[in-house]
Amino acid sequence: MSETFLNLVDGEWRAARTGRTFPDVNPADTSDVVGHLQASGAEDVDEAVEAAARAFPGWAKTPAPVRGKYLLKAAQALEARLEEVADLLAREEGKTIAEARGETTRAVRILEYFGGEGARFSGQTVPSERERIFMYTVRQPLGVAALVTPWNFPIAIPAWKTAPALVCGNTVVLKPASQAPLTSRLLVEILQGTGLPKGVLNYVTGSGRDAGTPLVAHPRVRVVSFTGSDVVGREIAQVGAKRLARVQLEMGGKNPTIVLGDADLDTAVECVLNAAFYSTGQRCTATSRAIVEKAAVGPFLERLVERTKALRIGDPRDPQTQLGPAIDAAQLETTLRYLELGKREGARHVYGGERLADGPHAKGHFLRPAIFTGVDPRSRLAQEEVFGPLLAVIEVEDFDQAVESANAVRFGLSASICTKDLSRALQYVERAEAGVVMVNLPSAGIEYQVPFGGVKDSSSGGREQGPAAADFYSETRTVYVKY
Ligand code: UN1
Repeated sequence: MSETFLNLVDGEWRAARTGRTFPDVNPADTSDVVGHLQASGAEDVDEAVEAAARAFPGWAKTPAPVRGKYLLKAAQALEARLEEVADLLAREEGKTIAEARGETTRAVRILEYFGGEGARFSGQTVPSERERIFMYTVRQPLGVAALVTPWNFPIAIPAWKTAPALVCGNTVVLKPASQAPLTSRLLVEILQGTGLPKGVLNYVTGSGRDAGTPLVAHPRVRVVSFTGSDVVGREIAQVGAKRLARVQLEMGGKNPTIVLGDADLDTAVECVLNAAFYSTGQRCTATSRAIVEKAAVGPFLERLVERTKALRIGDPRDPQTQLGPAIDAAQLETTLRYLELGKREGARHVYGGERLADGPHAKGHFLRPAIFTGVDPRSRLAQEEVFGPLLAVIEVEDFDQAVESANAVRFGLSASICTKDLSRALQYVERAEAGVVMVNLPSAGIEYQVPFGGVKDSSSGGREQGPAAADFYSETRTVYVKY
């Protein structure tokens, strides 16, 4: 029997009022139930938000450097439990143990960075036009923050929303995705273990419909940060707009990697292999389109297929494994559907896409990464987010056509270019319709100390991470003093 885990509400671990739970299943071995979690409903959400609202005045007046210290303590505690957390992450989410360690380490750094921000929670002094007037600004927290996080980065994303929200003096209700809620629960347990006052941080699990919807709609929630699908993001934006809550959305991507004829072939193949297939393609920063200059297509594809064939697919907790499973049956089906669609749309299927269901793969959602070439940039395969290990190679005549094709989608999260030509690289930085641009680097794999977010349909409502996060989670108060 696997353990049942509780919500954290008002400093207390509690069962949901609904009396229901749901299972958290290992995607690499569906006979392994990692735990059961609370299937919370509107009443549970209401209790959590009310607890956060009661805790807000006390937390808001706690000096910011003191708030930061809780995060610094949590960073140390998380680092001490790194192996345990990484193992749980790999087990419930299915990314490889190496990626899971990397993500957990990233969460440690995020807590350290925002812990330090406590001492830098500063405003400005500004000269007045008038004599003997002193003008300055201070930052104010906003209130209760609802943080709704996805399954694909189950500790880094909860950390990069929770840490800045708390250090800025907001109180938090965190609702993680149901496919991987236990890694975020460990983060919450560690934060709570630093002695946070009750109600400052609350954790409620459950479905988007039963727990997420009442959370973002709650009249006491002043700020919402969401990472997930653009369909849900748009609904949240409308709900938030009705009561003028501050809303930040990080949504889909259809990220390109441009490979110019002069690119270093090893670099280009490595960038695309990593960004398209690692984490099973389940990153919103994943490369799903390689836009390759015609002259380079032959050697690029040959090397890419060779490298893709050699990827070891299997148990994410085996250190030899390079690629784990899809998160669940639905995600696997989506990828397989796009594979069929690609064939129907007339793209040339070069490699992979087979479901792996025997031997070590029998109990999980495994498939071989797939590569198409000759993809029409207007086709659905080139336009829609798949969120699986499926790469569309688009062949172009020259640099201008590559840029045009890269920009010809409704998303604009991250973008990459591989070239040795500095001028072309910088021209692309200027022309890319994307929030993040990488040169000779994979489109995925971001750092916490710089802003993160996209343009067009990928993001809305201000950047996450880096100094931008403090702007999102606080409001400026302007003070005029006559002396
Ligand atoms: C990364 O590429 O390191 O959900 C992070 C996602 C993004 C985070 C990507 N919000 O995939």
